[in-house]
Amino acid sequence: MRDLDLSSPATRSLDFTLAASGAAAPAAARDAVRALRSSQIREVANAGFDVADVLPFWFGESDRVTPAFIREAAAEALMRGETFYTQNLGITPLREALARYVGDLHGATPMENVAVTSAGVNALMLAAQLVVGAGDRAVAVTPLWPNLVEIPKILGATVETVSLDYGERGWALDLDRLLNALTPDTKLLLLNSPNNPTGWVMTRDEQRTVLEHCRRHGIWIVADEVYERLYYGDAGERTAPSFLDLASREERLICVNSFSKAWLMTGWRLGWIVAPRVLMDDLGKLVEYNTSCAPAFVQQAGVVALEKGEAFTRSLVADLRASRDHLAAALATLPGVDVKVPHGAMYLFFKLAGAEQSLELCKALVRDVGLGLAPGSAFGPQGEGFVRWCYACDPGRLDAGVERLSRYLASR
Ligand SMILES: Cc1ncc(COP(=O)(O)O)c(C=O)c1O
Repeated sequence: MRDLDLSSPATRSLDFTLAASGAAAPAAARDAVRALRSSQIREVANAGFDVADVLPFWFGESDRVTPAFIREAAAEALMRGETFYTQNLGITPLREALARYVGDLHGATPMENVAVTSAGVNALMLAAQLVVGAGDRAVAVTPLWPNLVEIPKILGATVETVSLDYGERGWALDLDRLLNALTPDTKLLLLNSPNNPTGWVMTRDEQRTVLEHCRRHGIWIVADEVYERLYYGDAGERTAPSFLDLASREERLICVNSFSKAWLMTGWRLGWIVAPRVLMDDLGKLVEYNTSCAPAFVQQAGVVALEKGEAFTRSLVADLRASRDHLAAALATLPGVDVKVPHGAMYLFFKLAGAEQSLELCKALVRDVGLGLAPGSAFGPQGEGFVRWCYACDPGRLDAGVERLSRYLASR
């Protein structure tokens, strides 16, 4: 059976005819949901279904399994019988461990300001549900992982984007342009630093200026800091600059984080929020109606990741830094590639001659040479002309990928 094209004039006239006759309209999701963009990364992956031996660098995850000590902690909790619902905001040992961890990185953070979520994407949804509704205005800095831009739209909010600029030194923020967009009627600013896809890292001074501006106008900040530990600063810092270093715990800041990246726990769906205490009762209600809680045995594994995982995270970051440098050096030798080395996250987002239609190019790359990259346009129109390569894998695979790209470029 052919799918009904819900946006076509024919279907709309069918809607009209049905309404005029008093019959119910055809079954369909709300307009706001139908208008959401679907994932262009998935579209590329679908183009590769029939291709044997694809090298996938398109998703934001490592090719390595979660460390054994974390898996063992989950298995032990399961065998102890931790199979029941937990408190909405998370089990006390995990909230306490998070309070200690965040406090150690960013200054005193009471447990009452911390809530456990079902990973970062659920934390983003909860944060948006807390502060925006229909007709509210949000602003997001792009290029950006699409979920941040699409989630407020599900709630009926509008999202205006402010683009980073690409220049000799990579991606940079035009602060004046951002501040001008943050008008007094803006409800929410969405920021992701270190950034997916560009690797851009907001400086402490930029954060201070934006925070002061948002304080003046009563604008909420949702800071997505899921890549904070994947930071390659020159001074060996443990974390990228965070809004938590500057703001009190009781102002309009909701900080979103995740176990996915720093402990390689993407499939576990575990994250957290740091937010003002005044939000916590309402956040508990939203957790109840979204997921009720994160699984108990997964939360127990989270405690162990926080308490015993520091050495692992540090060695992961050292490996990622080496992979980043390895891939950037190899790509720089190819004709038509303009690659800059960013200080955060786990992607190279590089300009590629001929990628003006990056979705089509990425489909061709997967079909013709089995190379799986994410199209820049998946991250907003400002990303067009670029492609994203996740380098969280061993250098041998990166080399094989570069060889395929080189082969493709030579054949054009
Ligand atoms: C910027 C950003 N925020 C949040 C997430 C959410 O990750 P998770 O839901 O696995 O915690 C991702 C995942 O790739 C991301 O890139």
